[in-house]
Amino acid sequence: ATVPVLTIDGPSGSGKGTISRAVAQQLGWHYLDSGALYRAVGVAAGWADLDLDDGGALVRCTFDTTIGFDEGGDELRVLVNGHDATDELRTETAGAAASAIAAIPEVRAALKDRQRAFRVAPGLVADGRDMGTVIFPDAGWKVFLTASAEERADRRYKQLKNKGVSVTMDGLLREILARDARDANRAVAPLRPAEDAVRIDTTGQGIEAVVERVLALLPARN
Ligand code: C5P
Repeated sequence: ATVPVLTIDGPSGSGKGTISRAVAQQLGWHYLDSGALYRAVGVAAGWADLDLDDGGALVRCTFDTTIGFDEGGDELRVLVNGHDATDELRTETAGAAASAIAAIPEVRAALKDRQRAFRVAPGLVADGRDMGTVIFPDAGWKVFLTASAEERADRRYKQLKNKGVSVTMDGLLREILARDARDANRAVAPLRPAEDAVRIDTTGQGIEAVVERVLALLPARN
């Protein structure tokens, strides 16, 4: 039998990561943070001092970069070429580089199999932009999360504030809108809901409530 998959797509700050991890934990399923793969290539490209306009170099970098996930500790650690890059991966610099790199079709193609390899029993919760449309079109359940740009900027602001990073709301809102536009308008795998996705607007909703709504889509367990 095929391994069940639940896809959770949406723009940055929609709550995808938090919701997906919580749902995966409740189900006892594996979790794929597909954005981390694009971010990892972005970080590796930065280490190698590559030009974000040099598509050929970025494609080679994608093939050469090893990305590992270490679920051993209390937090998921991401290893890029063997180095712990967990914190660097979350920076706006890595996000912006990821978004630029993610627009290159050969990069997306090169990461396809690496993403599909996460489909392991008993099941997978996959979070990203094109999980339900391109990577796992046969997923049994598809969710598309949204939230207003203001709320997404606000969530990001609080996250970064907690980490002691100095940012302004205005700057964050601008970055989010720019990234949304780039992700939605690119030629390959633009950000859009799968036709059979259930849309959930998380604006003003707590994490628990959204997790419950997602879990309610799956057949009752035990
Ligand atoms: O989700 P996250 O913010 O970590 O993703 C970083 C960037 O990687 C996104 O802005 C998007 O351009 C790209 N991405 C993608 N397809 C995915 C996941 C992320 O294009 N499945």
